[in-house]
Amino acid sequence: ELPPASDPELVARARKAKEALGDRLFVLGHHYQRDEVIQFADVTGDSFKLAREAAARPEAEFIVFCGVHFMAESADILTSDRQKVILPDLAAGCSMADMATFDQVEEAWEVLEDAGIAGVTVPVTYMNSSADIKAFCGRHGGAVCTSSNAKRALDWAFEQGEKVLFLPDQHLGRNTAVLEMGLSLDDCVVYNPHRPNGGLTDEQLRNAKMILWRGHCSVHGRFTAENVDDVRARVPGVNVLVHPECRHEVVTKADYVGSTEYIIKQLEAAPAGSTWAVGTELNLVRRLGAMFPDKTVMFLEKTVCYCSTMNRIDLPHLVRSLESLAAGQVVNQITVDPETTHWAKVALDRMLALP
Ligand code: 13P
Ligand code: SF4
Repeated sequence: ELPPASDPELVARARKAKEALGDRLFVLGHHYQRDEVIQFADVTGDSFKLAREAAARPEAEFIVFCGVHFMAESADILTSDRQKVILPDLAAGCSMADMATFDQVEEAWEVLEDAGIAGVTVPVTYMNSSADIKAFCGRHGGAVCTSSNAKRALDWAFEQGEKVLFLPDQHLGRNTAVLEMGLSLDDCVVYNPHRPNGGLTDEQLRNAKMILWRGHCSVHGRFTAENVDDVRARVPGVNVLVHPECRHEVVTKADYVGSTEYIIKQLEAAPAGSTWAVGTELNLVRRLGAMFPDKTVMFLEKTVCYCSTMNRIDLPHLVRSLESLAAGQVVNQITVDPETTHWAKVALDRMLALP
C-alpha cells in the first residue's frame, strides 16, 4: 500500500470521476508513472503485462492509459472498435520509439534487399515503436517483443530466418543476443539510418546475424559501467539490478537484468536486509524503496533520471481525462487506422502466442 500522493482536491476529483464511470472505465498504469497517477491505476505493469491486460478487458468502454504513446497505440490495436483508448497527455511520447520512422525502416529494408538478405531476415520490433513499424514487421513475417520476452521472440525469429533486423533499441537487441542466446558481439552490426547503406558494407550485412537499429533510450543510456563499479566499491554486497535497455557493458557488469515487472518481482523475493542498486527510471526506483522498507533500495546513478515523457502524465492531466469522460466527452483518444491495426496486430499476436 502506497501513501496517497499530491493535491487532495485533485485526488478527490479523480476519485469522484472514477466512481461515476464505474466498470465503463479501466485505468492502466506503467511502472514509470508518478505515484500521484499510479494510485488510480486498476492495474500496473510492464509494457507486456499492460498489453495483455488491455486485451483482456472487453467490457471496458474506456481505457485510460497512463504510460506513453506507443503503449496506448498497442492497446488500441488489441482492443475492439467499440473501446476507446485515452492517453491523458498526447505529448507523452518515447524518444526511443521516435528513432525509427516508417520511411527509414522501408529504406533499410531496401538496403537489405539490395544486399540479397531481405528474404532471410526477420524484422522484430521492440514494443517501444510506432504502430506503423509494428505493422511493417507484421507484413514482413516478423513480430513484436518486449523486454520480458525478447529472448523467446528472437528464438522464434531465428526459427523463421537466418538473420534478424532488430528495431529500434540496439541495447535490448545486443544484450539479448549476446547474453542470453550465445551470439557474439561480432555477430551484431549497427544500422545507422542517417548514413547511406546504414553505414555498413554489403559484406558486413551478409555476415551479420543481428542487424541492430541505431536507437536507444536516453534515460537508460545514462547509466555507465563506472556507476556499477562505484556502487560496488561504496556498498559491499550490493546487488545490481538493471533494465535491458542499459548499455551492454552495464548489463554485463550487473547481477540481474529484466523488465520493470521483473525488477519488482526480484525485489519482492529478495531477503530482508539486502541492498539493491537499481538501474532504471527514478519514479519506479523511489517506489521500490517505499514498497520494500525492509530492504535498502538505491538508484544506480547519482543524478536524477526520470523519463520526462512518462512524467508528462500527471494528476491534473489524469483528472482532465476522467472528468471529460464522466461528462460524456472523449479527449485525447488514440486511434490507429484499420490497415495499420491489421498488420500490427499480426505482429503483436505473434508475440502473444510465444510459448
Ligand atoms: P518495460 O516493458 O520493462 O516496462 O519497459 C518499458 C520501457 O519503456 C522501459 O523504458
Ligand atoms: Fe522511452 Fe526510455 Fe522513457 Fe521507456 S524510459 S518510455 S524507452 S524514453
